[in-house]
Amino acid sequence: MASNPAPILETFRLDYTTHIIGRSLIVHADCLEWLGRIPAHSLHAIVTDPPYGVKEYHFDQIEKRANGNGGVWRIPPSFDGHTRTPLPRFTALNAKERDALERFFLEWSKLVVRALRPGGGVFIASNAFLAQLVFSALVAGGLEFRGQIIRLVRTFRGGDRPKNAEDEFPDVCSLPRSNYEPWGLFRKPLPNGMTVGDCLREFGTGGLRRISETQPFSDVILSERTPRREKEIAEHPSLKPQAFLRRIVFAALPLGAGIIADPFMGSGSTVAAAEALGLPCVGVERYPDYFEMCKKAIPKLAALQVESDLLQPALLDL
Ligand SMILES: C[S@@+](CC[C@H](N)C(=O)[O-])C[C@H]1O[C@@H](n2cnc3c(N)ncnc32)[C@H](O)[C@@H]1O
Repeated sequence: MASNPAPILETFRLDYTTHIIGRSLIVHADCLEWLGRIPAHSLHAIVTDPPYGVKEYHFDQIEKRANGNGGVWRIPPSFDGHTRTPLPRFTALNAKERDALERFFLEWSKLVVRALRPGGGVFIASNAFLAQLVFSALVAGGLEFRGQIIRLVRTFRGGDRPKNAEDEFPDVCSLPRSNYEPWGLFRKPLPNGMTVGDCLREFGTGGLRRISETQPFSDVILSERTPRREKEIAEHPSLKPQAFLRRIVFAALPLGAGIIADPFMGSGSTVAAAEALGLPCVGVERYPDYFEMCKKAIPKLAALQVESDLLQPALLDL
């Protein structure tokens, strides 16, 4: 890993507390403010895992989770005797909270459109229950919907019998047991009359990087729950696995060059994936403890060898 960030990353520090890791930069800030202050058209792509329901990462909810004190984080029902960690209950969001969620992603989308180069890609994690709300808001904000990437992973969501009527309706579940995580794929619209080829030439954006000469990027990715060795490095409630993120980050820069941002960095797993691939990334996190966590977690996560490195020889050539 290089010891200095790409000089262009200086642009993204502004007056925030920042830290350099390899080629990348991490910023302690609220991303709505940060996105509105960085130069327009300065990012090539965004790869991010936002707070799906917005509310679960409000400071009071993070504290409630840490104190085992309820809030939106609940322990899922156990069906095999194993202890579970708390998960946010998105089905518990009321109409007002759903409105707030739409407004949040609408505002975020407008700021992203401003910050991205034309043709810049956005890869954003969601869940099956909330994706429709979030994705509509992103389109209303000016992003172009380009499809979804299906991360095949068995979570502990859904599949429960109707609440307080479990015994009465033992053969019913109110939502399907979730076996995938949808990632929305969006793009800042190409300028009028421009083809993808023109956009690649002028802005280095507009398409997705192929896995190899014979393998295009695919929208279904076989994944797994985040491995324990990664969770031991970064104790964040929503840590995403390196094997999956490295595939996404690789695809996000069609020409293998440019700047990726993760505005909801958490423990820095996207930045780590970029570092592992030798690409510069800017991560932004608002919660001070998570920002601090990133400083140690990113170099360790980036140093791991993971399955996708082996499956994709092209990655090893970088
Ligand atoms: C779902 S988590 C991301 C986890 C990350 N993918 C990982 O693997 O560690 C979302 C993160 O966004 C942060 N966050 C929420 N709102 C934010 C905002 N407005 N600006 C910056 N960070 C924010 C939360 O504190 C949380 O750490």
